[in-house]
Amino acid sequence: MRSIGFAASCAAGLAALSACAGTDIVPRPLGIVERGGVYEFTGRLEDAVRFRRVSGIPAEGYRMSVSKDGAEVVFGDDAGRLYALETLRQMVETVGDGGVVPCVEIEDAPRYAWRGVHLDESRHFFGKAAVKRILDLMARHKLNRFHWHLTDDQGWRIDVPGYPELVRYGAVRPSSVRPRERAYGDASADAEKYDGVAYGPYFYTEADLREVIEYAAKLNIQIVPEIELPGHVCAALAAYPQFACHPERLASRRPRISWGIEKDVLCAGNDEAIKFMEDVLDWTCRVFPCDVVHIGGDECPQDAWKTCAKCRARIEAEGVGDEKGLQPWITRRFVRFLAERGKRAIGWDECLVGDVPSSAMGMIWRESRIGAGHELVSGAAAAMRGHDMVMTPSTYCYLDYAQGLADDPHFYNRHVLKLERCYAFDPCAGVPNEAKRRVLGGQGNNWTEFTLDQRELEWKMWPRMMALAEALWLGESKPGFEDFRRRAARQRERLVASGVNCAPLE
Ligand code: ACM
Ligand code: ZN
Repeated sequence: MRSIGFAASCAAGLAALSACAGTDIVPRPLGIVERGGVYEFTGRLEDAVRFRRVSGIPAEGYRMSVSKDGAEVVFGDDAGRLYALETLRQMVETVGDGGVVPCVEIEDAPRYAWRGVHLDESRHFFGKAAVKRILDLMARHKLNRFHWHLTDDQGWRIDVPGYPELVRYGAVRPSSVRPRERAYGDASADAEKYDGVAYGPYFYTEADLREVIEYAAKLNIQIVPEIELPGHVCAALAAYPQFACHPERLASRRPRISWGIEKDVLCAGNDEAIKFMEDVLDWTCRVFPCDVVHIGGDECPQDAWKTCAKCRARIEAEGVGDEKGLQPWITRRFVRFLAERGKRAIGWDECLVGDVPSSAMGMIWRESRIGAGHELVSGAAAAMRGHDMVMTPSTYCYLDYAQGLADDPHFYNRHVLKLERCYAFDPCAGVPNEAKRRVLGGQGNNWTEFTLDQRELEWKMWPRMMALAEALWLGESKPGFEDFRRRAARQRERLVASGVNCAPLE
């Protein structure tokens, strides 16, 4: 191995200056000191670094020392080793059959344990290859939770043994809202907004899921499956209308066609409907090794419960007052069911309204969206009550919101979320010091009503997901948006060079 000057490696005409070995890393390491000069190696980067497992390194952390004479990494767990390598990959400049890396000392570890990406595959389906590519990109940005939204009103995407009708009826919608249209209500009201084309059947088999889970595990990514209940279940009710309060309303046996919120929900008074969800969750627990299972819980209208004899009988028998008491009753029931299988339940923040045990984890999404008639539990209040929380407030984390770009070829939700605002995301904002330990982290959410394919999904995710990744890796140690912007511009070049459809920074 021979050392050459950093400037010399560029002057050798290897590439433009911006493409030289450097320390423009996203997320920026917690502590980094540049020593000057470079380490030049031949062969594979992995083989040119000495890796040593030691004790006393924080989870997912590592220390790295690169001098002209070599590179050494010490780590405490596999994630630390992987992330050290990802850091090196962002610093290295390929030269001939080897490369150069700047001389640095790095000490790195994440501020938050939950650094997530969510993907809705109900509204649009992307498939295994696209998901693996997302996982690859997540690992490159040290993101470690993939929240897989697999069921919703507009499509059921998993083949659950014993319930064949789920994919027969639930995995295909006979028509969809046309691209660049918004239609949230009664599908018969504005028929011209629908394409009349069957979408699907699209779903994952158990073997598909296991393949993706295994792939993710090698990248230090846990997959958190989401099975929505008791609302957002129209695709399941298309398959099994008898599990609704008013089965006659589901005679067409199709998932919801328009976007928006479905009024037909799981009948909380029907033991067979509850058993159905238990069977789905029992299978989910066996397929997904992650110790957390998401049970949805958001946007569940209670109108059907109010007019259902079985639900009224349940309210009476359980002494929960009225239909408002049914959602916490269901949450309690499934929190217990999952606990019996060694899993923790997480739900959207609506789950935390009412009497719910603090062992339930919450996922905040409505923060700063308090509308009339909404009962809202803030992230801070829930953390104070002892719930472990994952923060994903829509106004910082919803990647289906427009990026605010001057020329954007894509169509979005009506709201705007700019890169700089993603960078400003602080999961602990407003949380009293004594409850901050309850804030496990946050995630970027990809709702896909208006996201048709993988290219469009990449455009909407990147670079905003870089900003969220840094906010979650560094927390209050973030160096500031301008510093991030410079490094993100370089990282964008790397992504584009590897074929990622990354949007411009502004
Ligand atoms: C949500 O956006 N309905 C969680
Ligand atoms: Zn009912």
